[in-house]
Amino acid sequence: MAKRALFVTFISLLLLLFVSGVLSATFTIINKCGQTVWPGVLSSAGISPLDTTGFVLEKDESKALNVPTSWSGRLWGRTHCTQDSTGKFTCISGDCGSGKLECAGAGAAPPATLAEFTLNGAGGLDFYDVSLVDGYNLPMLVVAEGGTGGNCSTTGCVVDLNGVCPNDLKVLSEDGSHVACKSACGAFGDPQYCCSGAYGNPNTCKPSSYSEFFKNACPRAYSYAYDDGTSTFTCASANYVITFCPSLSTSKKATKNPEAADLPLFNTTMIFLGGEDVSGASSTTRVAHVQFIGGAVAVLSLVGIPPYNLEVLGSKFLGCSITIE
Ligand SMILES: *[C@@H]1O[C@H](CO)[C@@H](O)[C@H](O)[C@H]1NC(C)=O
Ligand SMILES: *[C@@H]1O[C@H](CO)[C@@H](O)[C@H](O)[C@H]1NC(C)=O
Repeated sequence: MAKRALFVTFISLLLLLFVSGVLSATFTIINKCGQTVWPGVLSSAGISPLDTTGFVLEKDESKALNVPTSWSGRLWGRTHCTQDSTGKFTCISGDCGSGKLECAGAGAAPPATLAEFTLNGAGGLDFYDVSLVDGYNLPMLVVAEGGTGGNCSTTGCVVDLNGVCPNDLKVLSEDGSHVACKSACGAFGDPQYCCSGAYGNPNTCKPSSYSEFFKNACPRAYSYAYDDGTSTFTCASANYVITFCPSLSTSKKATKNPEAADLPLFNTTMIFLGGEDVSGASSTTRVAHVQFIGGAVAVLSLVGIPPYNLEVLGSKFLGCSITIE
């Protein structure tokens, strides 16, 4: 009798393992930033939370999350987090206001780069995107692995925009370093930028010079609310790798299916550099011209034959070293 009960338990466990193995996706979150990142996870309304809603990833660490088949929600990175003497946990960017490592149902305070997912949605497809609609705080890459159907394209915003963020959108920490870049909606609250009120539909809400700043740098990321056509990707039965501060060469290699998306992952004619530090570009870089836009943004245009090696200076703060091949 005991033997039989054991056997039934064993079979049930096997079944459970099988079912959960098939009916779930794995999200692997990797931190390639030069600094610690504290990812946050928020399930959409009515969707159960994942096993974790917030955790720490030291530099070069990764974590795999088991994600149920019809999950929808978002992930982002929190930066410069500290715990005060009372034990209250807060972050300078992406804070979820929970006061703890776990976000427990709270979302990111903008500005924050978001990776958004709806798994197993219309037509059995996963829908995913990287959004700068709530602003930007970290470079992020989303790679669909092993999927079939849909475009399964790599997406993200892999360049560091904090240093080159337009002045009126910039977020500085107390010590003056650049930590994030607001959306125009977040900075000015104007319905025209927020696509609200009379601007609450795609016919009236158009890109602005601010949203175009984001779109030019990260052509596949959402730059404003109705940017769907170039920013939403689909795949079926895939696992997803989400990398903070990916190297541009990794990002390029990960773009296995570039023809599926009309736009490149990053603007290959532009590498953004922190305006004050242009001299730091390594000697292997061939600089055609350095152009200052609005006195704040330096655009380094590259000519000649790859590979280029650049320390991308805006990311001195993030410690990312970037090689373009
Ligand atoms: C790259 O940036 C330039 C300058 O901002 C812009 O004119 C161009 O359209 C961008 N290319 C893409 C593919 O977004
Ligand atoms: C990806 O495929 C979906 C349909 O499966 C389509 O709606 C979307 O526009 C495509 N995305 C891009 C950027 O081509």
